[in-house]
Amino acid sequence: MWHIESQLVHALNDGDPRFGDVVCPIHLSTTFAQERFGRPIRYDYARGGNPTRQVVEDQIAILEDALLSDGNASCADGNAADITSDDNCDGAKGGLAFATGMAAITAVLSLFKPGDEIIVPKNLYGGTFRILDKYFSRFGLRYRFADFSNPVAVEQALTIDESPESVKKTKESLAGAILTEATSAETQAAATAVTETQAVATAVTETQAVLARRPQKAVFFESPTNPLLEVIDIAAIAAIAKRHNALTIVDNTFMTPYLQQPLKLGADIVLHSATKYLGGHSDVLAGLVATRNYELYKRLHFIQYSTGGTLSAFDSYLLTRGIKTLALRMNKACDNASIIANYLVEKCLRGNNCTKNDNSAGNDNSVRNVSCDDNAGNDSNAIHSYGNAINSCNGSFPIARVFYPGLSSHPGNNIQQKQAKSGGALVSFELAEGYDVQKFAGKLRLITVAESLGAVESLLCHPASMTHASIPAELREEMGISNRLLRLSVGIEHIDDLLADIQQGLDAL
Ligand SMILES: Cc1ncc(COP(=O)(O)O)c(C=O)c1O
Repeated sequence: MWHIESQLVHALNDGDPRFGDVVCPIHLSTTFAQERFGRPIRYDYARGGNPTRQVVEDQIAILEDALLSDGNASCADGNAADITSDDNCDGAKGGLAFATGMAAITAVLSLFKPGDEIIVPKNLYGGTFRILDKYFSRFGLRYRFADFSNPVAVEQALTIDESPESVKKTKESLAGAILTEATSAETQAAATAVTETQAVATAVTETQAVLARRPQKAVFFESPTNPLLEVIDIAAIAAIAKRHNALTIVDNTFMTPYLQQPLKLGADIVLHSATKYLGGHSDVLAGLVATRNYELYKRLHFIQYSTGGTLSAFDSYLLTRGIKTLALRMNKACDNASIIANYLVEKCLRGNNCTKNDNSAGNDNSVRNVSCDDNAGNDSNAIHSYGNAINSCNGSFPIARVFYPGLSSHPGNNIQQKQAKSGGALVSFELAEGYDVQKFAGKLRLITVAESLGAVESLLCHPASMTHASIPAELREEMGISNRLLRLSVGIEHIDDLLADIQQGLDAL
């Protein structure tokens, strides 16, 4: 078995053996000749399968350790949806490629049926929250927030609530769902009962019985979260979900399979916005899904084929090219991020007077691991808070808080070390009250202000006005996303240039 670095370069990338090309060819054909009517050689129509897309689909399966088993252990078997597949998926690995990360998420959420419920943390990628709240809700799929830092809270959310209020709520959502389309006989029966007997108590009992038996639950989360980089214990949550017959779905975009492999930790489905680190060059939109479970894979494949949000051949090629250098890029970006996090912690502790030299963040490994806590000494201005705040200082310094799971003072650092190879390449930080994020950003020359993350170039995002702008201000504040919060996606530039750029921004404050 090769190391992951070798798998990244070689796994299934081989070209056409007739010519010996060393990269996979881009197969543009949308249709494929058949030997006889109804007897395609391998592919018939590119929405259903394409050789270039197949390479990247197999690649994500290998990288996420998602080679298919029979799915016998799945809690979802025969329960999660009414979707079945007439496809023969024999020989497939467990990966699927989509046109975007959102198309991948849409496909995964399409596994569920009206009345099912997805348990999510509040700090969820905005697009995922939006599609749950504004799109899938129209089809009766419900979501509920839970505090994923507290396994007991997740357990409670997964426990089917049979209280009259809950049943009433479910009835309403089911009644709404039947207006669109009820797909299962039981749901239909429940919904019919609901509409016909608004006032009849027996229907409540009937509905309750149906609901207690049928709705599927799932947990859906990212770790670390965006943009506060809270760490969620994947193995602990997956174990709880399994006990409650619920699926565990992990969006692994921020870590990539190079740093973290959720299926090995007990997750059922892992997905990516491959637009980010896997693509790695800000030039391809893509989404990937992987599962070890054959039944789930078949249903996802059916959804992919039926709904058509597949990854094009050209973009599949770009993605395979990006994936080859994932290890190199991640190593460099994570090293840079760790140094920057410590640099910012220094600012947080000592104010803006310390320069790059006097905090010696340079290339000294020992300094990279220094945390706010370790640095604190008897500096009375430093406040370390271990709630939501990762490293807090009082307002007399330009940086109020630094969020980076690789810092030993980060409350999730132990779990991060257990489940991932490093703290990742994203660093969030909050300017102290009275300091202007725009002034800071206006002075940057190397770091670009832009949405997205995970590419070779460093990108700075202001979540309140960019990625999280659609969340009402009060809810944002409640989530800990203030107007002074910035998220830096650290790239692979030279660390001295990055630090100089950041210092330039801080000098402007
Ligand atoms: C964690 C996460 N998941 C999913 C997505 C959606 O991916 P895409 O933009 O490729 O549709 C994003 C996009 O930023 C993301 O950050």
